[in-house]
Amino acid sequence: MSEVTTAAAGQAGDALENLLKENRKFAPSAEFAANAIVHGDEYAKADADRPAFWGEQSRELLSWSKPFTKTLDWSNPPFATWFEDGEINAAYNALDRHVEAGNGDRVAIYFEGEPGDTRTYTYAQLTEEVKKATNAFESLGVIKGDRVAVYLPMIPEAVITLLACARIGAIHSVVFGGYSADALRSRIDDAEAKLVVTADGTFRRGKPSPLKPAVDEALSAPGHSVQNVVVVKRNGEDVNWVEGRDVWWDDSVGTASTEHTAVGHPAEHPLFILYTSGTTGKPKGILHTTGGYLTQTAYTHRAVFDLHPETDVFWCTADVGWVTGHSYVTYAPLINGATQVMYEGTPDSPHQGRFWEIVEKYKVSILYTAPTAIRTFMKWGEDIPAKYDLSSIRLLGSVGEPINPEAWMWYRRVIGADKAPVVDTWWQTETGAIMIAPLPGVTAAKPGSAQVPLPGIAVDVVDELGASVPNGHGGYLVIREPWPAMLRGIWGDNERYQDTYWSRFDGMYFAGDGAKWDEDGDVWLLGRVDDVMNVSGHRLSTTEIESALVSHPSVAEAAVVGAADETTGQSVVAFVILRGSAVEDADIVTTLRNHVGHEIGPIAKPRTILVVPELPKTRSGKIMRRLLKDVAEGRTVGDASTLADNTVMNQIAESLRK
Ligand code: PRX
Repeated sequence: MSEVTTAAAGQAGDALENLLKENRKFAPSAEFAANAIVHGDEYAKADADRPAFWGEQSRELLSWSKPFTKTLDWSNPPFATWFEDGEINAAYNALDRHVEAGNGDRVAIYFEGEPGDTRTYTYAQLTEEVKKATNAFESLGVIKGDRVAVYLPMIPEAVITLLACARIGAIHSVVFGGYSADALRSRIDDAEAKLVVTADGTFRRGKPSPLKPAVDEALSAPGHSVQNVVVVKRNGEDVNWVEGRDVWWDDSVGTASTEHTAVGHPAEHPLFILYTSGTTGKPKGILHTTGGYLTQTAYTHRAVFDLHPETDVFWCTADVGWVTGHSYVTYAPLINGATQVMYEGTPDSPHQGRFWEIVEKYKVSILYTAPTAIRTFMKWGEDIPAKYDLSSIRLLGSVGEPINPEAWMWYRRVIGADKAPVVDTWWQTETGAIMIAPLPGVTAAKPGSAQVPLPGIAVDVVDELGASVPNGHGGYLVIREPWPAMLRGIWGDNERYQDTYWSRFDGMYFAGDGAKWDEDGDVWLLGRVDDVMNVSGHRLSTTEIESALVSHPSVAEAAVVGAADETTGQSVVAFVILRGSAVEDADIVTTLRNHVGHEIGPIAKPRTILVVPELPKTRSGKIMRRLLKDVAEGRTVGDASTLADNTVMNQIAESLRK
């Protein structure tokens, strides 16, 4: 076991002691269970024949322009294909078919802008907008298979852009608006994007916040693949304009034809790339394809959120820059014909009741958000949500990081009036869709546990050697069988795909998370066991931040750890050794924080930077992050006997005292 995994396992052990005391259970009410969409018999049905089960879901939930005859092909692991001989258009499934079925007047999106402006799109209107965007992108030369980089705020144009790409068969690559110009450029280069879709900017806490300057900076150095930049006018601020390259959304999409006929694409045609942090400095372009991804996102959205599309109002608060904003904002809700809320801003703008005001206004019935938000609401106090009518809420979801039982209980009691089922959903950018979660009409929910693999999903917890551990024991979370929404690879790097996910345990997908079965056979997620941090539900790589730090001329060496944080789950703490010539003063910390912000983006800025004389290393030169984590979390430093120089921790402690 590496240093890192040993440390994680040790901490996991401590956490387990507490978790195992959890024996509260909340069964769904008789009424909820009676009206639930999915029943308990689905598990046995799926177990009997997984590929057949998924085939059945796919036929039921999607409209295939050419029906598939094959389900899973796993003859060349770890490269799976699902529904390979079928053809399907994702945008047609999300839009046109609902209009054709007579549901064109149903609201697809209630958009709430940060400054309070609103827009409503029915399915008919959204279909029209997507057709226009499709025609506009095609007239800019975008064809099937091209990559389109998307750098947009949480506005309807984001969903419209993604669906227009899907309609064409162009592969979208969304880059979260909080990433820097450098991060954007490296993603544009890796995917060789032909088009960038962006906005002049957005609003943050009542003020305009720019986006276009980062695109201009990203494209300022020559040698890139981008031919055009389509710019949505959102905050109306002045922008720099590159003639011949830049096009206003209103001038291209705004004037395009509303006629467009969608054609089916092969089931395994790439739908999107989404970059995520791994254990090395270089982000991985996670590749998802069409048929399997749509099947599992649609199924899980319906089953886990008990979606009744005629009556529910669904609100997933995730940004479209993350996988949750792909699967549960852009694709699944529209595929399922749901009505959803989309919100541009933060929970505290212009006041701390903004989320609850939105729930009341649109009568949100299903809310899907992250534990870090829930813990923030707890801190703000329950008198804030108490001011609003939240009686429309009937189901609550959580995603992105482990939810502690206290936050789970608060969510259910304060937001869910002590009766809405809470579903904790475990999944990843790589899994594409929810993998572990209760079924709300079936499972007696347990605070803090994601509980059970969904029907058709084979999850296990294994030891160091890959053997299943019994109930009551912990280990590594793996997935034993291929699943429809699984990543199909890392863009341009099959070897890395194999090494990262399929080499640790023979024949199994290794998720990178520690987990444990409790005595009832429920899964508890225990956080990452690798060098990936989870800050406010955002995935950050320690190595990536270390690389950013050492790229600054003042820094000789850097080590980064994720330290436990009550609200954000983890926070970034960096230890740096300065170069001989660099001066250690108060400014250096600010300079380095800003440098990381510039290299990666504000979300990656370390909360704390500590200047130290040395870093703890083993004789083979590996940094012992476990010891630094002890320092960052204010614990007594653990076993340092394998250090090459065991005075180092004393030197660090001494320098921190100063
Ligand atoms: O560590 C797990 C954590 O988030 C990681 C995946 O991050 P990302 O790819 O950014 O996707 C986040 C949204 C799906 C996982 O490896 N994670 C996600 N959901 C949970 C979770 N940890 C515990 N409980 C969850 N429900």
